[in-house]
Amino acid sequence: MSEELIYLSDDELRDLMQAKLLKAGLMEDHAKEVARHLVYADSRGVHSHGSVRVEYYAERIAKGGTTIDPDFHFEKTGASTGVFHADNAIGHVASRKALDYAIDMAKETGVGIVGVSQMGHSGMLSYYVDLAAQEDLVALAVCQSDPMAVPFGGTEPFFGTNPIAFSAPTNEDRPIIFDMATTVQAWGKILDARSKNNDIPPTWAVDENGEPTTDPHKVRGLLPISGPKGYGLMMMVDVLSGSLLGLPFGKHVSSMYADLSSGRNLGQLFILINPSYFTDLDTFKENLSQMIEELHDNKPATGFDQVYYPGELSEIRYANHLETGIPIPEGIHDYLTSEVVHFNKYDQADAFAEK
Ligand code: NAI
Repeated sequence: MSEELIYLSDDELRDLMQAKLLKAGLMEDHAKEVARHLVYADSRGVHSHGSVRVEYYAERIAKGGTTIDPDFHFEKTGASTGVFHADNAIGHVASRKALDYAIDMAKETGVGIVGVSQMGHSGMLSYYVDLAAQEDLVALAVCQSDPMAVPFGGTEPFFGTNPIAFSAPTNEDRPIIFDMATTVQAWGKILDARSKNNDIPPTWAVDENGEPTTDPHKVRGLLPISGPKGYGLMMMVDVLSGSLLGLPFGKHVSSMYADLSSGRNLGQLFILINPSYFTDLDTFKENLSQMIEELHDNKPATGFDQVYYPGELSEIRYANHLETGIPIPEGIHDYLTSEVVHFNKYDQADAFAEK
């Protein structure tokens, strides 16, 4: 039976999450920024990166695995490059601050490339590239995550679900935003199938022997998108956001739940490009708006109502949620409104054993 949903406004949800993160020990401005980010995800229907994560973040904060008073330090390494040393702060805050340096450099020099070194989980990458697009910049963001994906032809988890996000400004209200994990499905979709005892397609994941499985309970590795191509992309992400910053790579990247009392040392990279250094900005935005229009005019295939541009469905969900409120499962609402900081659920947990 599916859980009842509680509908909350942006502000109500943000305030509840902010209060919980504060209670766990985060500084007020950090709690505010993380809550803002998580509302962005939930309100766009990407619930895997919204309020569902608060309890995990709270447990890590309470146990010392998130630096609550970080010694942030931006190291400018060239006219358009730099490294933001994050001191294992919560990733949402570190990445948001690092992004500002990249934006400034892209505006001044045409390009801004900034690595975030040694941070915690940074959430939904759309959040950052969306902000860059609002500054009329083209943006790419990549980051490392837990080693849960098997390499093409292999049987053991090696790379993370290593996401790639891209944005570009248009003449419309909203930019184009493409944002995806490099695995066929995010881990959250396996959890969803487990909770409903549904089979999964054999193309999503493998069991402990590296064999494709349709039983979500037997999953011990996620498969890359499009075989060797997704495998190559997740390696690219790992090189750009890990090795390029001198951080652990592949299976040496820390697991989400391995030890909640120490920092995760994750990496992220922003590559921002100022279109006006390459072409006329207005024409560029006009062309992208025309591209969207022409895509909308494309005759839909059987089973499709229309062609959407990347990120459009998120924006439609966002507009709907402004009317209806954001749906939050009752269990998460109960947790957020309770006095409990965390239920000691995640520390040392086997990621693949998660219910
Ligand atoms: P997804 O599969 O829901 O969407 C992928 C992309 O396809 C999106 O850009 C979406 O707008 C587009 N799309 C979907 N349906 C479409 C349609 N009908 N027409 C046109 N475009 C369409 O995303 P996924 O792979 O599940 O990732 C979810 C989130 O998880 C992302 O925001 C990602 O940044 C985040 N993530 C974060 C990680 C971290 O460690 N920080 C790790 C992995 C993922």
